[in-house]
Amino acid sequence: MATVKSADDLILTAASLVGEALTRTEETFENELSTGGPYVADIITHTRRFRGKRLRPLLCLLTAKALGNLNRNHEILAAVVEMIHTATLVHDDVLDEAEVRRHVATVNVRWNNETSVLYGDYLFTHAFHLAASTGSAEACRLIGHATNRVCEGELMQVRNRGNLEITEQDYFTIIDGKTAELCAVSCLIGAKFAGASESINASLERFGRSLGMAFQIADDILDLTASQQLTGKTLGTDLGQKKLTLPLIRCLNSVSPAERDQLVAWIHAGTSESTTKVLDLVVSSGAMSSATETAQQFTADARRELKSLPPSPAKTVLEKLPAMSIARQC
Ligand code: IPE
Ligand code: IPE
Ligand code: MG
Ligand code: MG
Repeated sequence: MATVKSADDLILTAASLVGEALTRTEETFENELSTGGPYVADIITHTRRFRGKRLRPLLCLLTAKALGNLNRNHEILAAVVEMIHTATLVHDDVLDEAEVRRHVATVNVRWNNETSVLYGDYLFTHAFHLAASTGSAEACRLIGHATNRVCEGELMQVRNRGNLEITEQDYFTIIDGKTAELCAVSCLIGAKFAGASESINASLERFGRSLGMAFQIADDILDLTASQQLTGKTLGTDLGQKKLTLPLIRCLNSVSPAERDQLVAWIHAGTSESTTKVLDLVVSSGAMSSATETAQQFTADARRELKSLPPSPAKTVLEKLPAMSIARQC
């Protein structure tokens, strides 16, 4: 296997390992959405211009491959988790008033918020319709439960918008729901439908959850520090919307009372100058590096869960995915 140099390389290596299954997953995704007529066809054509990393389908397919039994149900359910993920992004871009996603205009900008809400709904309903095609009530239950938790996480986040007293525990509960849950269920499905034991199923679910936690903390750091050009999405919306993430929560709780008052004033000001000042203090207080360390701890937790898998190229890639989740630039 080629040496993995970057996050992009790792995703490419992962995709090539499950190549044909991933291609069939993408065909399944396309076919499921192709029946909606002209009013959805143009949105699908627009959003297809760029694709994401396909992390969740890769987690499902690689987990199954590492267990030696990658089958048709995995391909269908990998398409389902990507569809649910895409639905949450389309809705999230309305909440965040984001203008760019995967390097193209968001649905809310290219069309409008109403279209985004309805297209997101369209993706959710098709995801459940597609999951039912496995004939497995268990698959539908798992997907349904995970999606419930994603929505609960998003609802908790929106309710805490502007809450500058939010605790780290609340932040972890939010990201566990909105992001880690879907990564966890992707791995659980990979294991369960490969016929793994209950204990391997549980380990791989924990692997996906810890990876997802690390992934979202890294994403929240990128939202403060990265460039739109590299990530291909509108950044700065967490602070702009006063949705506090780990670096900022930690900074608020570690600086002096006077600095805290100043920080709160800058957060409320919301100008580009005050945003720069917020970022400077988050870095100089050590809160940014401390948040990175927490993400690293989650990646270590994730890797530990893979110990019981037999050696294979798929396992080697799974072992590298947690670190990729925090080293990535997009
Ligand atoms: C973005 O997810 C939303 C988060 C959970 C942070 P991804 O970074 O996986 O998005 P795509 O699918 O690659 O565009
Ligand atoms: C959204 O989190 C995660 C979802 C489950 C939709 P973010 O708001 O951080 O995602 P991005 O940064 O817009 O991709
Ligand atoms: Mg967003
Ligand atoms: Mg983000």
